[in-house]
This record gives sequence, C-alpha cells and structure tokens, in this order.
Amino acid sequence: MIEAVIFDLDGVITDTAEYHFRSWKRLAEDEGIPFSRADNEKLRGVSRRESLRLMLAGQEISEDQAEEWMARKNSYYQEMITDLTQDDLLPGVTSLLAELRGKNIKVGIASASRNAPAVIARLGIEALLDGCADGNSIERQKPAPDLFLYAARMLDVPPSRCLVVEDAASGIQAAKASGMVTVGIGPVERVGEADEVLPDLEGIHVSDLLRAANWRVAEAEFRPDCQHHQETILTQGNGYLGTRGSFEERFPNDRQATFIHGMWDDVPIVFTELVNAPDWTSLEIRINGQRFSMDREKVEDYARVLDLKKGILRRRLRWEPSDGRQFELTFERFPSLEDPHVMALRVQVHALEGDASVEMRASLDGHVENEGRLHWEFVTQQSSSENTHLVVKARSTQKLLAIATCLSVNGVKASMERRDCPGNPGVSIQAKLNSGERITVDKFVSIYTSRDTEDPLEAAQSKVHEAATSGYESLRAAHEAAWGEFWSRSDVIIEGDNEAQLAIRHALYQLRIAASQEDERVSIGAKTLSGFGYRGHVFWDNEIFVIPFFTYTNPELARNMLMYRWHTINGARSKAADNGFGGAQYAWESAETGEEVTPRWLPDWNDPTSLIRIWTGDIQIHISADIAYAIWQYWQVTGDDEFMRNFGVPIILETAVFWGDRAEHEGDHYVIRQVIGPDEYHTHVDNNAYTNGMVRWHLTKAIELREWLQRTSPAEVKELDQRLAITPTQLDLWRDIAAKLKFCMDPATGLIEQFDGFFQQPEVDWEKYAGRTESMQSLLGIEGANAHQVLKQADVIMLLCLLRDQFDSKTWKANWDYYHTRTDHEYGSSLSPAIHAWAACELGQPEVAYEHFMRAARADLQDIRGNAGHGIHAASAGGLWQALVFGFAGLRLTDGGFEINPQLPSHWKRLAFPFYLHGERQEVDVRP
Ligand code: BGC
Ligand code: BGC
Repeated sequence: MIEAVIFDLDGVITDTAEYHFRSWKRLAEDEGIPFSRADNEKLRGVSRRESLRLMLAGQEISEDQAEEWMARKNSYYQEMITDLTQDDLLPGVTSLLAELRGKNIKVGIASASRNAPAVIARLGIEALLDGCADGNSIERQKPAPDLFLYAARMLDVPPSRCLVVEDAASGIQAAKASGMVTVGIGPVERVGEADEVLPDLEGIHVSDLLRAANWRVAEAEFRPDCQHHQETILTQGNGYLGTRGSFEERFPNDRQATFIHGMWDDVPIVFTELVNAPDWTSLEIRINGQRFSMDREKVEDYARVLDLKKGILRRRLRWEPSDGRQFELTFERFPSLEDPHVMALRVQVHALEGDASVEMRASLDGHVENEGRLHWEFVTQQSSSENTHLVVKARSTQKLLAIATCLSVNGVKASMERRDCPGNPGVSIQAKLNSGERITVDKFVSIYTSRDTEDPLEAAQSKVHEAATSGYESLRAAHEAAWGEFWSRSDVIIEGDNEAQLAIRHALYQLRIAASQEDERVSIGAKTLSGFGYRGHVFWDNEIFVIPFFTYTNPELARNMLMYRWHTINGARSKAADNGFGGAQYAWESAETGEEVTPRWLPDWNDPTSLIRIWTGDIQIHISADIAYAIWQYWQVTGDDEFMRNFGVPIILETAVFWGDRAEHEGDHYVIRQVIGPDEYHTHVDNNAYTNGMVRWHLTKAIELREWLQRTSPAEVKELDQRLAITPTQLDLWRDIAAKLKFCMDPATGLIEQFDGFFQQPEVDWEKYAGRTESMQSLLGIEGANAHQVLKQADVIMLLCLLRDQFDSKTWKANWDYYHTRTDHEYGSSLSPAIHAWAACELGQPEVAYEHFMRAARADLQDIRGNAGHGIHAASAGGLWQALVFGFAGLRLTDGGFEINPQLPSHWKRLAFPFYLHGERQEVDVRP
C-alpha cells in the first residue's frame, strides 16, 4: 500500500534542466571550457559539486576556485529561475498532484538542488505538497538513499510505502536502495531499472503510478506478532527447496525453516514429514561488540521487500546503538532458480557515523527442528575460510544432506577465523570500518542430498566453489534471467485493480518456487515448501487446483508432478489391496511412497487433551478420480501422447479397476457408500455427488482411452490388459457403473443432492451467526456440522466447474442458488472461494465472482483466515489462476482450439495472459 509519492523536481515536475544547462554553459564559456548539450546529459540528478567535476572532465582547479565557480553557476541559475511560472510545470503534473491530494496520498519533493524551495515557490505548487527535501537536508547525495529516506521521515511514512518518481538513473538507484517503489520518467536506457517506466506524466493517473508496486510484497514495519505470516509470504525457493522469510540473525519465536523436496523423515501419528534442513542463511552480526537484532537498540528506516519479478528478498535498515553511532545494514538473498543447488546471500554494513569494529559469523546451522522434533544426526563438519560444510543424516530414513558454504569479503580488509560449534560450523569475519566505510560479505551455499547423488558432500563442495568463482552479481543475473523466462510464459495482467494484480503474481510466484524442475519423484504439498502445515503431505489440492496452472503455462513442470503419481503407484496398489479391492487407490495424503499418511487421530483444537478421529485417510476417496482428471487435462492441453501412453493411461486404468471394485451393485443401480466428499463437514455419507460424478467420468474416460491406445499402440494394450486383468466383462462393468451409478439430480429442476439424505438435514440459521469469526464447524461442533445443511467448501459446485460442459444453464443456476447460500465461505476451506469465483462467472455474475476472488486473494497476503503462518494456501493460489482464466476470461478448449467468454468485474480494464496449447503459445487479451 502506497501512502506517499515523492517526486524528483528537475525533469519530473518542471524542466529546470534547461536552466541548469544554460548556467553551466555560461560558466563554461566564462572559463573557456568546452561544454555541450550532450555533456549536460550526464549532469541529470547530480549534485552541484559532482556536476562541476563532470564539467571539468579531469581539469584540476583549487578548492577555492571550485567554491567560487559553483557559487557563480548558482547565481546565474537563480537569476534564470526568477522567470519561472506555473507555465513551467510539465504537462500532467498539476492534475496528478491534485488527484493524489484527493486520494489522501502524501506528496513530497526530493531534489538534489539546493534551490528546490525557490523553484517550488515560483511554480506555485506549495499548497499541493506535504514536504520538500532538498540538497541542504542531507550530506550523502543520490545514489545514496539518504535524501529519499529524509523525505520519508519528513512525511512520516515508512520507506516501503513510498513511491518515487525520478528521471535520473542515480535517483532510481537511491530510491531502490531505500526500499521504495520506483517509477522512472524517460527512456528505458536511462531509467530502465525502475519498477515501471513512463515517458512523462502527461495523462498519467495515480493508478498508473501505483502499478509500479505490483511486483513486490513489502513489509513496512517489523511486528513480532505478525512474523510467522510474513515469513510465509516472503518465502523464497527454486523448486528444489523453499526457505521461509526469517531473518538471517534470527528472532525470538520465529519459525525459520528450509524444506527440501523429498527429504522425508518419520514422525509419530502423522507418519512422515518434510524435515527442516540446516539453515543456510544463518549470519550473526556484532558491531562494536553488540549483537545486532531487530529487537535491540534503535532500528530506523526499516524496509523489507520481496521482488516477485526477480525472486529477490531485500532488507534495509539503519541501526543506532545507544552510543550515538549509526550503521546502515542491508541484506539481500536468493536461492537460484537457474541452478537449484545454489543459494546466495549478500550482507553489507556501512558505518554512517563513527568508526566500528564489525564481526560477522556466517554459519550452517544444523540445530533446526520441526516444531520441537529433532530429525538430524550430525555426521561430519568442518570450518575454514575456504571450506565450511556440514553433513547430517535423518534419524529414521537415513537420508543424507550435505551443505557447504564459501564467503567472499569486499570493501575493507578483513580477517577470517574458524568458529566451529558441534552441528554448526562457521567462520567469523572481522573488520574495522572507518566512518563512511562499508563491508560487503557474500555468502554462497550449496546443498545436495543422498536423493540427488552418491556423494552429496563432494557435489556441494564443488558447486559452492563454482558459485563463488562466478561471483554474486553473475549468479544473480542468471537467477533473474530464469525468473524473466518464467514470467514471460506465465504472467497474468490485470489492469484496473492493483490488489488483484499483486495477489495473482504472488500466487504464481509461490507456485513456481514449489514446483520441481528436476525431480519427478516429488510433488507440491498443500502448504508448498513454505510452512510446517500438513507436514509437506500432498493432497488432491495439487491435481485439481495447482497443476492446471502448470499444465497451461509450464507443462514440463506439470508432467513432473503427474509422474510423481506414477512413481508412487505401488502405495496406491497396497492401499487398494489393504481395503480388499483390486487396482490402485491413491492416498488422501501422500508423501514419499504413496502409502496413506493421513493421521488417524489429531488433538482437538478446542481441547488439545482429547483426540479426534480423522476419517479422510480412510474414506475421502475421490482423489483417485481427481488424479485421472489432471492427467486427462494435461493430455488435452499438451498433446503429450508419449506420457499418456506410457503413464497416463496405465494410471487411469488401474484406478478404474479400483472403482469397479469399490462401487456396489444395488437393485437397478450402483452406489458408493461411506465416503467423504470435498465438503469435509459431512463424513460417512452415501453417494456423494462429486465423488460419483467424477467416478462416472473416470470410467467413461478409461474406456475411451483404452480404445485410443488400442488404435495407436495395440501391443501396449495387450500388456496392460494382462497386467491389470482387464477383460471384456470388466469393461462392461465399467460401462454399466458409468451408466447406473447413483446421482441424485432432480430432472425437473436440475438440482443435485450432495449426498443421500442431505436435503433432509435441518438448515442452519445463518442470521444467528452473522459476524462470526470462526468456522461453522467450530461453532456447531463436528457432529453438529455433520448433521446440518452447511458446507465447508464447494462440492456439487466443484463438480459443475470441473465437468462444466456436462451441465446445462438451468442445472448451473439451480445448484448455485441452493449451495451458494449454504457454504461457509469465510471460514470453511480455503480451497472454496476461488472455485466460487469461477462458478459465479459461469452464471454471468462477475461482481459476485469478484467478492469470492478477493477472499481467495487475501488468504495469504492479508492472512484473513489467520493461518497463513502455517504456509501458503497452495490450492487457493492455483484456484486464483483458474478463476481468472476459466472464470473471468471464460477460456475453454474446443475441438479445433479454444474460445473465451469474458466476464470482467466492472472496474477491471484489462485481463491478459498467455498459455500453451499443444506447445504453441496463445495469448488472451480481454478489455471491457
Ligand atoms: C480441505 C481439503 C484439502 C485439505 C488440504 C482441508 O481443509 O477441506 O479439501 O485437501 O484441507 O488443503
Ligand atoms: C483436513 C483433512 C486432513 C486432516 C489431517 C484436516 O484438517 O481437513 O483433509 O486429511 O486435516 O491432516
């Protein structure tokens, strides 16, 4: 949220550059120095002294002379600006300033010119400004951040909530260094580093400026009570690992964690969890003997910003220990998207006032835990300036992890010595800074595990040396390029709604960092790699909510995750067998092997001394059809026949065998009893509409796909038939079930009953619960919710969305009207709002859709459910993309290609995104 806009003066508000040029020119002529308009370009945004130096181009003059020349130039300039009037305001400025006023956004000026106040007075805009910081205000000029920080303090707005409009490269640099949002005015060659570039301010509205903030998640003030939420939304990763946004030096009660795909270890009750890996970011700073921490001494000008476009997390602050000295601390880090085994962290300490002795201890901290549980045994470790590493082993699964680090120090002379503690090898760097000096430490880290290679230590050591040799800047450039590539395939543009725009980018960023590009034996858990929630377990969330985004934009990542189901099919086979069925029955919660890892018992939220029986692992069986659906969709979109033939069809047929056994013949039809549908408030129900609808679809597709395979690869069908014992009788059974599986839909109205007897349940008096802050299940109790017509999440509506062309508009409307009002949208499942947004678009209600969409958009960024600290709501993030693409844009595939049926909320000006159909890029660009 932007609270203040700070404008540079010259070249942005008014064009005094011309007057400056003429004054320097006159001085140059006085002194017989050649000086052209082209030379003048370099003087943009530069202080008077620096301008003089540039003008002199190497010619030496005495200090007295310099003073006199600068004073002369200034007197020429002051003479000239007496002619300034309102007419010298650049086009668009007055209306923009007035609009900012109207929106209660503060306005400041930050100009290197000492004449800024005089210029402003002449231009007659004082009344539209809240403050002016000029060259007299500070010592260090742009590109140092001081002037902008001074302006922010004057406006009483935290730096990350300020937006700077600048026309000089040095100004953009200064604003970025202070953690502010930047809008560059002028050519890209000059101001291309800015978050957004505009040619000038003519016709520009406030919303155009604010667009620049749509690539960043910023924290304006550090609040310990929000730290878990911030850690989650500032998570970084690269598909190999995810690291929560905790501070390098740590903070009391933080939930620091790095999760690596596939690194499971056993736990009681919940079977297995992703182990929190040794902390690669660990870095302690001592200045003059005092340990730096966010809760010690005075922290000023704080800003923490996650740049989504480039995948970089930055923190900047001024630390003022009580002795009156001042230090600027900056942190920047990223796990490389270009090489997932490389992480890099840069820390700078700048002595702003006073000398300092600085000590930094950079280490690899193996003393990490999973909410109290310890998983690691320490195997070996070493620390030295060239070679610091740690090898740990997971206690039960014996998986090895090797982590190695290497440091590089720049700026001042420093000494390094080893500082080894068991399980925490490290190196201490010591340096003396004179006032004004700065030390830069780059920490390179590499991680390999025994899942990646035979000798993880060797791999990590050689990789970290390679990284250090490349150097920080070059690693960062490669990382940023990889992000650029991702966004060019995946970005969704929403114009006219900055909050929605930022939310979708954040969601896609979070999904990308969770998707492995190298490893098809892993998949994305319900909380990605960003938190302890659900312990890394994989649910239907991935196939139904997340994978579609990848299928349409980055199919090779989608394929990896679908392959995970192939690699874990043995788990599904044993689950089916254990339950007395043939074929494959996928686990509700899945981890390394595909065996069921849903806990059977969990402590009651309201009374942790008692346990609740969790039934999902036993009877929430729709997941097997959901997996088939994701595979089918992937094939439709990509045309990847090879995958379909070798893995897709085998999975779909083997799970179909399970359905054939699971459905029971009863009278004229088939039934599926004792299940949990998507709406988990109701357990042990018979003939859940979603489950039965999906099973019907699954069996129909199984038959079609077997026929397709028979046509295209007869040999493979033979083998499959044999392996799975698929006989003509079996196929007849599937056809029969698909035709006669109970599905309670009133033919007259189209209304579908969620399960047998749902309509007989009592209604909830919703008015009684208006303004509630808890879920309906916690208010009614588990049994109470189970016995009422109240839904945790989309169930029938979910089915309509997935199989939307099977249902006519009458059916859509009847079911929407019925179930929409009976669903716990606020505190039920986070999976539900995005689906309701999509569904509302199908009904032609984009404004209702928007309400649901924003409920999903705020689940993580605003933490409206209060549980974002446990990790990103992956399904909600993937659901946002689907709501935009399938809902608001109305994309559907047709026989020959695709069609759209846009329904934009009235305030949206544009919705645009690319996708790939059979490998070919398509672009959708919708305007009202
Ligand atoms: C939802 C499920 C979901 C699970 C994991 C539950 O609260 O009801 O649909 O799979 O969370 O996100
Ligand atoms: C979810 C289930 C899950 C269970 C155990 C519940 O909160 O709704 O889908 O299986 O937790 O992890």
